Amino acid sequence: MNPTGKPLLLLLGLLLLAITTLSQAIHTTPIPKLGFAATAVACVPRERTGREIVFSPAFKRGITSDHLGLLTSWRQDDHDCCRWRGITCSNLTGHVLKLHLSGIYTNEHTGMEGLVGQISPQLLYLDHLEHLDLSINYLEGPSGQIPEFIGSMKSLRYLKLSGIPFSGTVPPQLGNLSKLQHLDLSDLEGKEGMHLADMSWVSRLGSLRYLDLSFINLSAASDWAHAVNMIPSIRVLRLSLCQLQGANHSLAHYNLTKLEKLDLSSNYFDHPYASCWFWNSTILKYLDISSNNLYDQLPNAIGHMASLRVINFSDNAHMGIVEPELMTNLCSLENLNLQGSLSYGNMTELLDSLSNCSNKLSELNLADNNISGTLPPGIFQQFADLVTLDASNNQLTGPLPVEIGDITEEHFANLRSLKYIDLSSNDPLNIVVDPTWIAPFRLERASFPACMMGPQFPTWLQWSVDIWLLEISNTGIKDKLPDWFWTTFSKLEELDMSNNQISGVLPTNMETMALSYLYLGSNQISGQLPPLPRKNVKLDVSNNSLSGSLPSNFGAQNQQMVTLILSFNNLSGHIPESFCRMEQLAALDLANNLFEGELPQCFGMTGMAIVLLQNNRFSGSFPVFLERSTKLQLVDLSRNNFSGKLPTWIGDKKELVLLLLSHNVFSGIIPINITNLSNLRQLNLAGNSLSGNIPWRLSNLEAMKEDNYSFNLDIPDDSSYNNLSVFTKRTELFYGPNIFSAVNIDLSSNYLVGQIPEEIASLALLKNLNLSRNYLSGKIPQKIGSLWSLESLDLSRNKLSGEIPPSLSNLSYLSDLDLSHNNLSGRIPSGSQLDTLYFEHPDMYSSNDGLFGFPLQRNYSEGIAPKQGYHDHSKTQQVAEPMFFYLGLVSGFVVGLWVVFCTILFKKTWRIA
Ligand SMILES: *[C@@H]1O[C@H](CO)[C@@H](O)[C@H](O)[C@H]1NC(C)=O
Ligand SMILES: *[C@@H]1O[C@H](CO)[C@@H](O)[C@H](O)[C@H]1NC(C)=O
Ligand SMILES: *[C@@H]1O[C@H](CO)[C@@H](O)[C@H](O)[C@H]1NC(C)=O
Ligand SMILES: *[C@@H]1O[C@H](CO)[C@@H](O)[C@H](O)[C@H]1NC(C)=O
Ligand SMILES: *[C@@H]1O[C@H](CO)[C@@H](O)[C@H](O)[C@H]1NC(C)=O
Ligand SMILES: *[C@@H]1O[C@H](CO)[C@@H](O)[C@H](O)[C@H]1NC(C)=O
Ligand SMILES: *[C@@H]1O[C@H](CO)[C@@H](O)[C@H](O)[C@H]1NC(C)=O
Repeated sequence: MNPTGKPLLLLLGLLLLAITTLSQAIHTTPIPKLGFAATAVACVPRERTGREIVFSPAFKRGITSDHLGLLTSWRQDDHDCCRWRGITCSNLTGHVLKLHLSGIYTNEHTGMEGLVGQISPQLLYLDHLEHLDLSINYLEGPSGQIPEFIGSMKSLRYLKLSGIPFSGTVPPQLGNLSKLQHLDLSDLEGKEGMHLADMSWVSRLGSLRYLDLSFINLSAASDWAHAVNMIPSIRVLRLSLCQLQGANHSLAHYNLTKLEKLDLSSNYFDHPYASCWFWNSTILKYLDISSNNLYDQLPNAIGHMASLRVINFSDNAHMGIVEPELMTNLCSLENLNLQGSLSYGNMTELLDSLSNCSNKLSELNLADNNISGTLPPGIFQQFADLVTLDASNNQLTGPLPVEIGDITEEHFANLRSLKYIDLSSNDPLNIVVDPTWIAPFRLERASFPACMMGPQFPTWLQWSVDIWLLEISNTGIKDKLPDWFWTTFSKLEELDMSNNQISGVLPTNMETMALSYLYLGSNQISGQLPPLPRKNVKLDVSNNSLSGSLPSNFGAQNQQMVTLILSFNNLSGHIPESFCRMEQLAALDLANNLFEGELPQCFGMTGMAIVLLQNNRFSGSFPVFLERSTKLQLVDLSRNNFSGKLPTWIGDKKELVLLLLSHNVFSGIIPINITNLSNLRQLNLAGNSLSGNIPWRLSNLEAMKEDNYSFNLDIPDDSSYNNLSVFTKRTELFYGPNIFSAVNIDLSSNYLVGQIPEEIASLALLKNLNLSRNYLSGKIPQKIGSLWSLESLDLSRNKLSGEIPPSLSNLSYLSDLDLSHNNLSGRIPSGSQLDTLYFEHPDMYSSNDGLFGFPLQRNYSEGIAPKQGYHDHSKTQQVAEPMFFYLGLVSGFVVGLWVVFCTILFKKTWRIA
């Protein structure tokens, strides 16, 4: 046998084995036959009715896909269908009483999973069926509508079709289901779903106890409250997100004496609270009317609704002050949510009245109101069951001296059950707790942004070993991070400590931590950056004192990273190859560090939107990995040593808004394709070695022309980039979120030749235009006066000739002009704007020996005789200068030599839900 024979045989053997196993598997595994014609009798209940026999294959015929395997047990060889998944039969008669086949819904991102197909009319054969639940399946079928035949299933008591993406109208035939007790047709997501204009058939459902029509468009069913009021048996009514226009019906008689749970949230009620029809319900336990537009005072009736356990009035128009006495009888109250619905109020009074009898309160949300007042130390004394306390975004502050504090350990003393607390944005709310105090609670989520907690680190938090969210940004802490911090808080998933003066180093074992959101920006953290937590999605350590190089496997474990912000540190060295593993990355900010070398070629990173690398020592060609990113919006490579040509594919990055490449050593021509960037607002190529002409198709830069332009940062968390700032040579301008409103072109200090394209005059939004220090010749475009937004114009140190176009004096916003060191000639245009500029910057025409007239102290004959010597001098200067960065060197008129530095300050984006 030759040497290759053995492995060949082995391979054949393996193949045979695989085939046999596979075929065995096929024979032994029951595969539900979906979508095929019924061949065998599939359902034989213990007491046959004959009709049920027909049901199963027909039902399965309607199903085209079953990813979850809900019908796997529906086997034709198992004749007892009562044992099949989802089927329940009567013990006595053998009839199928119940059919329950629902899919799964995890969250809005993953959506739902379940059966696909349609509901077969053969269901009618199950004429004893009392309970039908087919929720969360794609069973809308070709018609997309709820089948009318369901209205003929006379035995039904329970019908749940929620989450099936039906559309069209709800068939009134359902009103025939006179035994129905439970009807749930709600949808899961707000899509163009079902509508219902006439609710009158609902009132025929005389046995109904539970009705959920959430997400069905009921905007035309103005009679909805009357229809419901005809069903005295009803206990639960959910009509959330139904586009209901009002709840201000006047009912002749309040019939709903059994109603316990009422959810009318997220509708369009736009009338006073008091005119709602439901205030007569004295047995109501759950009332959710959040996210409407109800206003004015709460009615006195609420004072008698002593059964209420859950009140959610959040997110309505302002109800004004809550009369404290209204809250004194709510002895069953467990959950009170008044977020964003009080216009003013007095926290002391509100809590005082609640403490009269609401001692079962476990959730209290008073966030986003305008509530003022001090909190006396005993104010939470009665709320020993309080689990959630949200008082963020109010004006809880008091006349007490800062040292005593507005919140002390006395306030917390009795809050044994507290797990979630949010006191953020009450600034300045002083939280002064003895560091040695042993808290009676174990917090899981704690948010104190903008409270004053420092200067010492709040050590009293250390008893909360289960904490997974901690926000203490902007809290005035000036301290070393305690030794216990990372070990005690090992369950942390979200941490924000930014904007303090916290010092210390990052732990080396971070990799194993649960942290997904980590914001440590603007502190004094030093040492090296360790390998990052594996679940890290967003990291901001900007503006600290981190140094050293990145770990050699940096990023290898961070496939989920979306935002990585390391700017303003002293990090150095190369970016390792492993960096490329972060393929989800959308925003990268390495600016203002000491990084060097070439960037790795991360071809898998295709979702990059923001790339800020400025002010480092990067070298090599234009980063090639950006070619794969189709979503690029903001690229800043300025002040590095990047070299080589500008890639022509840059013109394909249609989303680009800022392209800042200044002060590198890029050479070659400016690719014409750059004019394809129809969203570009800022182009800075200054201080490179670019040659050739300025592309004449500049008029294609639509976003520099159209004023109807609106810009959205298309990254998962756009609020991180609210603090971009622009430095011009003299001033630091904080554009903040409006950075994109500045429209600039800076091509200065290159080797550009040829004429200034006339098309440039069409970029009407241009604010700063700097073409200085090149070899541009020819005339200044005649229509330059059309650039009506122009604030600064620098054409100095070129070889421009001819006259200064008179239209220049039209530019009324112009505050900086430099035309010096050219060959311009002729009479200077008159205009008070230009005259004023001249007196501020008397050098702006200098070294143009052919210019004459006011304001120059020179007449015609002097003007036409340029001094050759002077001109030569300016020429040598031009050759030498493009290579240098001369910020501050030239005294005052080289305008628009600007560079964008970006400071990314963390902004809170996740809140306690
Ligand atoms: C049917 O029988 C099972 C088992 O014997 C029992 O658990 C169940 O309660 C019975 N159901 C009815 C409706 O009698
Ligand atoms: C069912 O309801 C429809 C419409 O409401 C009605 O026309 C029909 O007669 C009813 N069918 C039965 C059997 O009651
Ligand atoms: C809801 O229905 C009304 C008319 O019945 C219609 O005008 C409105 O556009 C619908 N709303 C949505 C979101 O489809
Ligand atoms: C109250 O319910 C009964 C029974 O459904 C009904 O006859 C009566 O009209 C209802 N009253 C009002 C005011 O809707
Ligand atoms: C609600 O109660 C008030 C007094 O408690 C009464 O005057 C009013 O008629 C009631 N309204 C309804 C619709 O029953
Ligand atoms: C709030 O009410 C308390 C008690 O009635 C009162 O002492 C305090 O002055 C009030 N505070 C404000 C800001 O109105
Ligand atoms: C540059 O743009 C032109 C036309 O706009 C296009 O034909 C060409 O393919 C582009 N080149 C690259 C490399 O994108």
